[in-house]
Amino acid sequence: MSDQNLEIMTATHHKTKPDPETLEFGKTFTDHMFIMDYSIDHGWHSPRIIPYQPLTLDPAAMIYHYGQTVFEGLKAYRTDDERILLFRPDQNFKRLNRSSDRLSIPDIDPELVIEYLSELLKLDKEWIPTYEGTSLYIRPFIIATEPNLSVAPSATYKFMIILSPVGSYYKEGIAPVGIYVEDEYTRAALGGTGTAKTAGNYSAAYKAQDKATAHGQAQVLWLDSSEKKYIEEVGSMNVFFKIDGEIITPALSGSILEGVTRKSIIELLNSWDMPVSERKLSIDEVLLAIEENRLEEAFGTGTAAVISPIGELSWKGKQSLINNRETGPLATKLYETLTGIQKGKQPDPFNWTHEVK
Ligand code: COI
Repeated sequence: MSDQNLEIMTATHHKTKPDPETLEFGKTFTDHMFIMDYSIDHGWHSPRIIPYQPLTLDPAAMIYHYGQTVFEGLKAYRTDDERILLFRPDQNFKRLNRSSDRLSIPDIDPELVIEYLSELLKLDKEWIPTYEGTSLYIRPFIIATEPNLSVAPSATYKFMIILSPVGSYYKEGIAPVGIYVEDEYTRAALGGTGTAKTAGNYSAAYKAQDKATAHGQAQVLWLDSSEKKYIEEVGSMNVFFKIDGEIITPALSGSILEGVTRKSIIELLNSWDMPVSERKLSIDEVLLAIEENRLEEAFGTGTAAVISPIGELSWKGKQSLINNRETGPLATKLYETLTGIQKGKQPDPFNWTHEVK
């Protein structure tokens, strides 16, 4: 095997596939995984597909100590005529490189990685569920592997891709979720790592997530770190609000994740002559709009969450219902159009889907 040629080792044992009707998010994994290594002398090398298996790492591997890691999330769909479609994979791998840059991790070649991913998907094609609301979630990630306790970038890394057949991200399915507006902790500050998909952004949110759960809400809505006034994102999704006919999403402030679904929804709405205002949006403006019955609907967007209507906001002990906790017409139309394009059931005027061949 040359250092760049993909080696494929197929599994001799095939796992039992989960029941597609009761799939949860991210609990089961397919028969194979992709892995390649990085060293300063050889760059990214030895790409291989191997049976899905545990890793053996030195306990001093830098990922364990200082969290030098980045990840992505994208989905594959199997069409009625047995084609495999990916949704804008180039966007995810470009973003992976932006996250890596922020964490001083060497970048990957997006085109090459999409080829490796395609081989993995062809091998595990039967794992792509076709039941309504399901898909194959793809988790590419990079970890620092050098055994070294110095606080400095690692000299070696592993890039891996694992695949998980998934149902909807929230237990509510596509029914509206309740959101807890966090007023104590912050997710990200300007100049920090908020725009990167890196583990620490997520684990640092658990404390606030515990509060949300205690208040009976599904997720946390984050406000800006300096004034605790402006809406940022939900952590697993970007957010949109429709107030007095204006569709608003928080502008990319430097601490918000640049969602691929967010970008696609803005492009889709533009094509429907429904421009989106990317601007600052304060929690006060949203609460006043709810009070005055001007908030028509709210929803989150994300790869895992797709389009997830928001039915309730909980802020400083007060609960406010949005659209009577019902899914609004805009969220419904966006969900149907987006998933229709993703699954190859609707025309794709933007050329967003990428067929795996
Ligand atoms: C995704 O939508 O892919 C995400 O990254 C959210 C995730 C952390 C579950």
